[in-house]
Amino acid sequence: MDYYIGLDVGTSSVKAMLTSDCEIIGTVSRDYPLSFPHSGWSEQNPEDWYNESIDAIKELTADIDKSKVRAISFSGQMHGLVMLDGEDRVIRPAVLWNDGRSEKEVSYLNNEIGKDFLLDNTGNIAFAGFTAPKLLWVYNNEPENFARAEKICLPKDYVAYMMSGVFATDTSDAAGTLYFDTKNRCWSDEMLEICHISEDKLPKVSESYEPIGNLKKEIAQELGFDEVKIVIGAGDNAASAIGTGAVSDGDCNISLGTSGTVFVCSDKYNCDRENAIHSFCSANGKYHYLACTLTAASCNKWWIEDILKADYSEDVKQYAGKSDVIFLPYLMGERSPVNDTKVRGMFYGLSMNTTREEMALAVLEGVAFSLKQNVEIIKSLGVNITRSGICGGGTKSRFWTELLATVLGIDISVPLLEHGGVLGACILAAKGTGKDISSAFYGTKEIIRPDTCLTDYYEKKYLKYLKLYKAAKIIDE
Ligand code: XUL
Repeated sequence: MDYYIGLDVGTSSVKAMLTSDCEIIGTVSRDYPLSFPHSGWSEQNPEDWYNESIDAIKELTADIDKSKVRAISFSGQMHGLVMLDGEDRVIRPAVLWNDGRSEKEVSYLNNEIGKDFLLDNTGNIAFAGFTAPKLLWVYNNEPENFARAEKICLPKDYVAYMMSGVFATDTSDAAGTLYFDTKNRCWSDEMLEICHISEDKLPKVSESYEPIGNLKKEIAQELGFDEVKIVIGAGDNAASAIGTGAVSDGDCNISLGTSGTVFVCSDKYNCDRENAIHSFCSANGKYHYLACTLTAASCNKWWIEDILKADYSEDVKQYAGKSDVIFLPYLMGERSPVNDTKVRGMFYGLSMNTTREEMALAVLEGVAFSLKQNVEIIKSLGVNITRSGICGGGTKSRFWTELLATVLGIDISVPLLEHGGVLGACILAAKGTGKDISSAFYGTKEIIRPDTCLTDYYEKKYLKYLKLYKAAKIIDE
């Protein structure tokens, strides 16, 4: 029997999964800290990703025949800026995908360099979460750190480099940097010049399923493994699509994780010239559209753990269709489609008889509305979305998944295995050894259909939700 290891280098933890050719053997998760040094900033220590990954692998493989581990691959939080010096030391904490500090740099890129130029060269416009504006922020604000950087990479690529000694990335993650030519799947010379960097500081680009080298001998020895391939893997949304089987043209997958994303596969390259939606490479050699709600399951976590300090999520159902409370889920600004780092969240419609449960429901609805806004924009590009797969921690709430189906007005197909990214990483690891194990892991547990009795109610509430952002924008000005 052969074994494969997937590592999902996420924002709150690393998840490690062990599979054989046909089943999941086990999963282990290790948390690490996330710091918010200023409002809208978000940083993490790359060494934590590596150390916790190694610990997780040790626990995961404690009781198996370790000589049968064949490959390790990755699913990684996207866009994070990792800078290493000439000795491979981390120069500063990684600036993460949900960091909003680079507002000025985003405005420079979108308005002075120009959206048309960016779209022509990369397939995307600038968002604060992307890597290029963060790199320019370091160039403008920490020139000594910028000057010391010999290697610039993304979170999972750092872990893969520490494990293999090979400096590599994949096309799905590279596309989220904004210095990558998505259509032609290579670094963009024009954008590298704008970002003041040369290609020799960047990792070599592979497809997600390609092996880049082997696990370093000393690490393999420490873990008790023989020769293990390191397969570069994918950005977390592209890896989740592989894990849930969203791989054919037009397939849609929604991730209800820390962020909420809508992912739609496309066999052909295309980009949204109206700016709101990202065009990235997929982990199967093709392309996809992606839209990202910055705070999704994290809104619910914030509301339940930090504010209420009690879980009311089971008691919210009674209010569905009956509450006037609306929540804007902009706790860290918003990416898609509004691209606004300054806007913040709010509750609207409170009265003397508003209950905690109603407010808890509004949080779930607000995230669903944000995802609806993204689904509607992707539909307006001519993509017919009538059904979507789903993954991510938020799906533990069956009610939230039902609510999503109703708000979006589409069927949600719940996969047999809801592991998303980390399962995608195992499938990519096996692919890197020449085996396609995916069919053993695909299948639908159930289809959740919209509750049509609530369709009108949620259509009306959604229109009010859209107006609230406009109001928030006026207040901010
Ligand atoms: C996608 C994005 C997030 C992160 C979360 O563009 O920024 O989904 O990848 O890990």
